[in-house]
Amino acid sequence: MIERIGLSMEKVKENGTMNNYEVETPKNITIKGILSLLMQSIEEKDGRSVISLGMGDPSAYSCFHTTPTAQQAVADALLSDKFNGYSPTVGLPQTRKAIADYLSRDLPYKLSSDDVFITSGCTQAIDVALTMLARPGANILLPRPCFPIYELCAAFRGLEVRHFDLLPEKGWEVDLDAIEVLADQNTVALVIINPGNPCGNVYSYQHLKEIAETAEKLKILVIADEVYGHLAFGNNPFVPMGVFGSIVPILTLGSLSKRWIVPGWRLGWFVTTDPSGMFRKPKVYSLLFAFCVIRTWHFVGSQFL
Ligand SMILES: Cc1ncc(COP(=O)(O)O)c(C=O)c1O
Repeated sequence: MIERIGLSMEKVKENGTMNNYEVETPKNITIKGILSLLMQSIEEKDGRSVISLGMGDPSAYSCFHTTPTAQQAVADALLSDKFNGYSPTVGLPQTRKAIADYLSRDLPYKLSSDDVFITSGCTQAIDVALTMLARPGANILLPRPCFPIYELCAAFRGLEVRHFDLLPEKGWEVDLDAIEVLADQNTVALVIINPGNPCGNVYSYQHLKEIAETAEKLKILVIADEVYGHLAFGNNPFVPMGVFGSIVPILTLGSLSKRWIVPGWRLGWFVTTDPSGMFRKPKVYSLLFAFCVIRTWHFVGSQFL
């Protein structure tokens, strides 16, 4: 186990004691990797049960299931024989429109289908966002703690990661002063996860506005991961970051996985919430479109929904 979590065995003394060793933090360690090591280390004889607080699949519990309306819609689409071919790589027009209409309900302006790109879960939306923004020398600002896939995708795309802390004493708000110190002319975006994973934060309207104003001042995009959108506990209602799209362009990422309790359907979205049309100037739409077409995404969810 020591080797697997990155401690060098030469530093363990011959008699088995571990004085004077140094912990070398491996670059590729993940929370899932640590969890699985811990789970493997549990004594079989120990009768106590372990509750995982890292379970992100609501369907694993029988008390949570999706609505019969959604199940019926998928069954009808499957049986209709109309959706057995390849769908457009950016998603079916009716799927894109349905998501634009759904998200527009909480925004002070209306999204169009052209703003919406269908992905294989929110995970692929994260990958699309980071791939699109990566270029030599670029960096991205990630919250600490963060959902680990961001770091993995950034490493894979050669994007430098800079971390800003979430402040526990302020309800895990973003440390805006740190953002200003970290950002430079090579910073392409900052990521917020709201409602938050892993901290469970739900940001207030005021805090989200301050994030937008800071990003605008620094001339960087905001990537808003809203995969837990509307799953808000506590006093703050869920406010989509897109509400502040007129201050700074927002890339909103989401999926059916959590709110509809169907992570296995793998239907997600990447949405440009940009009422001032700033994305249009640097041709982000055509870039996105080209990117989506290059990568052939054929998956069950987008064909049906
Ligand atoms: C913050 C966050 N973003 C994205 C995802 C991935 O969502 P999906 O299952 O739709 O790919 C998760 C899943 O747990 C998540 O917690």
